[in-house]
Parts: sequence; C-alpha cells; structure tokens
Amino acid sequence: MADNIGNKAAHDYHLDVPAAQEGFYVKGAAHCDWGMKSRLARMFHPQSGNTVMLAFDHGYIMGPTAGLERIDLVIPPLIPYVDVLMGTRGIFRSCISPAARVGRCLRVTYDSTVLYDDMSNGGGFASDMENALGMGADCVAVQTFIGAAGESRSLELLCRTADAGARYGMPTLGVVAVGKEMERTEKFFLLATRVLAENGANIVKSYYCEGFERVAAACPVPIVIAGGKKLPELEALEMAYKAIQEGARGVDMGRNIFQSDSPAGMAQAIGKVVHEGYTPKQAYEVYEAVKNG
Ligand code: R5P
Repeated sequence: MADNIGNKAAHDYHLDVPAAQEGFYVKGAAHCDWGMKSRLARMFHPQSGNTVMLAFDHGYIMGPTAGLERIDLVIPPLIPYVDVLMGTRGIFRSCISPAARVGRCLRVTYDSTVLYDDMSNGGGFASDMENALGMGADCVAVQTFIGAAGESRSLELLCRTADAGARYGMPTLGVVAVGKEMERTEKFFLLATRVLAENGANIVKSYYCEGFERVAAACPVPIVIAGGKKLPELEALEMAYKAIQEGARGVDMGRNIFQSDSPAGMAQAIGKVVHEGYTPKQAYEVYEAVKNG
C-alpha cells in the first residue's frame, strides 16, 4: 500500500502523563455513558453548570396560551438567550428551525386537556424514543402526577422512558405536576422530586418552595424550576435567584418570559441570574435596559 511508504512511526506516548480522567459536572451523571453526558452537556452550560430552559409546551393541554398565539414569531428571537427549548414535536416541526443552535427538550407524554377537570386521569406516550432521536432531541420530558389519580400510570411512563433513554444515551426529564389537588409544600416536593429521581429521571423539573434548599439537597439529580403563572418581572427574578442560590441548577420557565412585555429582556435577565449569579436588582436592570433599548 502506497501510504505505508514514508509514513512517520508513532512514538510520542507521553509515558509520564497519566490518562485524562475527566470528571463530570452534571449532578448524578458521573457514572453515565458518554452519549448521555454529551447530551447533558448540551443542556447544562459547562462554565456555570446551570441551564436556562425556555418552556413553550403549554398548548399540549391548554391550546393557544397568552403569549404563544404565534410561536413561530415569539420563540425564535429568544433562542440566542437560552440554552434549551422545551416543546412538543408538533411545534418543533412547524415553528422552530432545525438549524437552531440550541438544546432541544422534547415532551414525549400527553395528558388530558384543560376541558377535563382532572388532567392527571389519563395520559400516554406522545412520542417514542426513535422519534425523539430522529428529531435530534437532547432530552425527553415526561409529566408525572405524584399523589393524584394518574400517579401509577405516569411513573410507568417515566420508567419506560428512562429505560429507553439509558439504551440510547437520552436524558429523561421528570416533570412534577402541581394540579388543583396537589400540595405545594416542602414535604410534597421532597417526596415528588426524590421519587422521580429514584425511578430514573436524570433531571427533575419542579417548583420553588419554602425549604427549597433541602429539596435540592435530597434530590440526587439536578432540579430546574418552572416559573408558574406570570409574576411582576422583579418577583420572577427574585424567585429564580433564590432557587439558584438554594441549589437549583437552572430554570425551565415559560410564562414569566414569553408573557413579559419584553420577552428578550426577561430571557437575558434570567440568564444573568442563572449563569452569572446576578442579584434580582442587577438582573432587573438588564431587563429594563433591553426593554427600553
Ligand atoms: C408544565 O408542565 C408546562 O407545560 C410548562 O412547561 C411549565 O409549567 C413551565 O412553564 P411555566 O414557567 O409557564 O410554568
């Protein structure tokens, strides 16, 4: 073979340098496989270790939501300011460019719509793992209903998703639902977040509460907090700040960003809190500057 003639012989084995034993910065993932870590690293920023996820999946149970009437107009301009988009496959396909340089979290379960009193009473798979892989997802999200009618069914969906995720290196995000009947106490969130992690979630999405630092400490994987109903901007920034200071590894926030009078301002202000430790007041100045800019 012509290539063999004149080839340089390998010789530089650096015998005095130990092989690189890189640790891994995402909580609970040190023993995961390379593909899983690679996807987690597309979600959690390697410098801060945290993530800003932008949730716009509300239509899967609520139909058009205020601020999300035209997702194709509202969400793409925010992509430069966030780490991950969270949505359904129908919206990714129709409203988000496949070329977007951003992490993708795909919701893979459906539930009853708001027309039913109890949204936890049904539910199933909205997408299988092959579809998620085909869409280039970095993470799949499963809704769970701890303490409600759909608890057992939703935990089954979580476990099956975590099984497939382990096979294909796909992180599973377990979502803690807080329906009408569910508590929003430290006791509830301690239980719900831990149950999801123990059943295979690589990331847990939950809510900020009094005693959050104990909730975060007891959960062996990263917690990201949802924003919930729209708050005045400063209050939303205060909630995000307290959550990060008390152990959250990011936010998965929707209405407090896309329902703001300056979605780009809020996305950037939240990013400062999550990645750079800005105080609520400093971050509010960022929001104001973008809004008035
Ligand atoms: C929850 O499961 C929803 O579909 C949203 O993804 C979640 O509630 C986050 O959005 P928001 O910050 O508006 O509560």
